[in-house]
Amino acid sequence: MTLYTENDVATSSVNRGLESRLREELDEMVERGVHKKLLYIMGKQSAVVDIDGFGDTINLCSNNYLGLCDEPTVMQAIKDGTDKYGAGTASVRFICGTFDIHRELESKIADFMELPAALTYTSAWNANEGLFAPLLSEQDVLISDRLNHACIIDGIRLCKAERKIYDHMNMDSLREALESSRDARHRLVITDGIFSMEGEIAPLPDIRDLCDRYDAILAVDDSHATGVLGDTGRGTPEHFGMHGEVDIVTSTLGKALGGMAGGFTASSRSVIDYLLQQSRTQLFTNAIPSHSAWGALAAIEHLEEHPELVAKLRANTIYFREGLEALGYKPIPGDTPIVPVIIGKTADAINLSQQLLDQGVFVIGFGYPVVPKGEARIRCQISAAHEQYHLDTALAALKLVGEKLGII
Ligand SMILES: Cc1ncc(COP(=O)(O)O)c(C=O)c1O
Repeated sequence: MTLYTENDVATSSVNRGLESRLREELDEMVERGVHKKLLYIMGKQSAVVDIDGFGDTINLCSNNYLGLCDEPTVMQAIKDGTDKYGAGTASVRFICGTFDIHRELESKIADFMELPAALTYTSAWNANEGLFAPLLSEQDVLISDRLNHACIIDGIRLCKAERKIYDHMNMDSLREALESSRDARHRLVITDGIFSMEGEIAPLPDIRDLCDRYDAILAVDDSHATGVLGDTGRGTPEHFGMHGEVDIVTSTLGKALGGMAGGFTASSRSVIDYLLQQSRTQLFTNAIPSHSAWGALAAIEHLEEHPELVAKLRANTIYFREGLEALGYKPIPGDTPIVPVIIGKTADAINLSQQLLDQGVFVIGFGYPVVPKGEARIRCQISAAHEQYHLDTALAALKLVGEKLGII
């Protein structure tokens, strides 16, 4: 099957050579069963979403961990923010894109992350991509977990520091990297707090210990852990009782905290001030819209007032994991609401997710290059928005399709 005909190429207004090469490669993706198609949700992000062409489906693949995407107080804050501040900022922060709501949000984030200061970006991608180059240079070494998120990898590529990659969550490998970087001016270790494709929690106390021994800076991308880990949702540091012990935390406003666009870096006042001066992904791009800033502020306040949401998320996660294992699935072990099941081939993972969709369950299959070759998977994500019947219905579909495909 091909996506495009010769006629498409002939009638395209784009450069012929580029057009025919891209179309060939896209056709090849279709043939290998790895071509992604977008699904269109026709309402709010929630436990159940109405997908164009599929109807109501149980959503097992959103980062809406606390169910705040359709939380009325958060939605009202966005409406109030629009009434007060209009549609957008029309400027970067340092020209005329800084509104009082940014100050209020950054102060709230710093307080919530138990660090002295914070700076917002239009995404966590931007926060991570703009983090390393300003702080480190040729005299320094950047040490990164092999499975860190793509935005960390890209951020590292933009930085002139020497790079060292340590084996995933392997403390011997990290120690070796630190040992061989003794002579550098600075050593910075960066890890995801929760690894997005594995659902594993980084061993932060061990990493902190090694950083202390080698006088290294510790940075954590807590995008999947903010609002998720710790009794009050303060993330991986709270989970390990390491309040304020991480030098730099980056995270997103686009997952548990209402699912809007936005991200941030929290750290000391001087690190944050330095990023404000030098970090190109906030210097040369618009500030987060004021209404989103207001919405994110409302989401954090809502979380502070309702820590029971974090407890419900945890209870739902345990219930779903146990149910999945009882069916015979073998998810990657862990305690986080990211519950991946390795399938192997990308096409098989995509086939499983398609068949689940036909049964009214929305789970995405991930393959190379998002995950290593041969480790394609479906990634189930649990939310506090799920009620037990949602999870039971999803498990029933997983049983039906898993048996049909011979996975369980
Ligand atoms: C670990 C991690 N960091 C950063 C991001 C990017 O977040 P944002 O959508 O705010 O750019 C993601 C999103 O997938 C992520 O999983």
